[in-house]
Amino acid sequence: MISVYPGSFDPPTNGHMDIITRASKFSDKLYVAVLNNSSKNVAFSVSDRLSMLSKITEGLPNVEVVSFSGLLVDFAAQAGASHIIRGLRAVMDFEYEFQMALTNRSLDDRLETLFIPTSVQYLYLSSSIVKEVLKYGGNISHMVPEPIEEFIKRSHS
Ligand code: PNS
Repeated sequence: MISVYPGSFDPPTNGHMDIITRASKFSDKLYVAVLNNSSKNVAFSVSDRLSMLSKITEGLPNVEVVSFSGLLVDFAAQAGASHIIRGLRAVMDFEYEFQMALTNRSLDDRLETLFIPTSVQYLYLSSSIVKEVLKYGGNISHMVPEPIEEFIKRSHS
């Protein structure tokens, strides 16, 4: 089974890493696909996000980090993927995720979206929360994998 885990990953968090690790166990191949869309307001460049994700997934041999632009269904078809992976935190995610899954299915019904419920310790976590805490100089060591914290410290100093 070839899966795609798409997202902005701006920056990657422990919550993303949890989903990547779990999805890599039931996928033969997992593409972690960073959206490269210039209209999105992002804090980290695509190349920084690719570097960060490559670093934290280097111990997972069936995971490949890539960027994509345009429609997710087109990238998935090109990658030969049968499944889209998305993490679900709480009710707040549901409406957006459900709409996205139905949209993608309407565009390509060969693709199934699989939702993985987040591990409970990451229920509160998001890239936006990490950026908010970073902005005011707070501690993010429990929110992101260690190499990500180091990368952010290096790139912000
Ligand atoms: O981490 P995010 O920002 O919640 O991820 C959103 C993402 C990248 C999965 C979504 O914006 C996406 O797939 N964009 C590509 C354009 C597309 O295919 N849109 C149609 C589905 S709504």
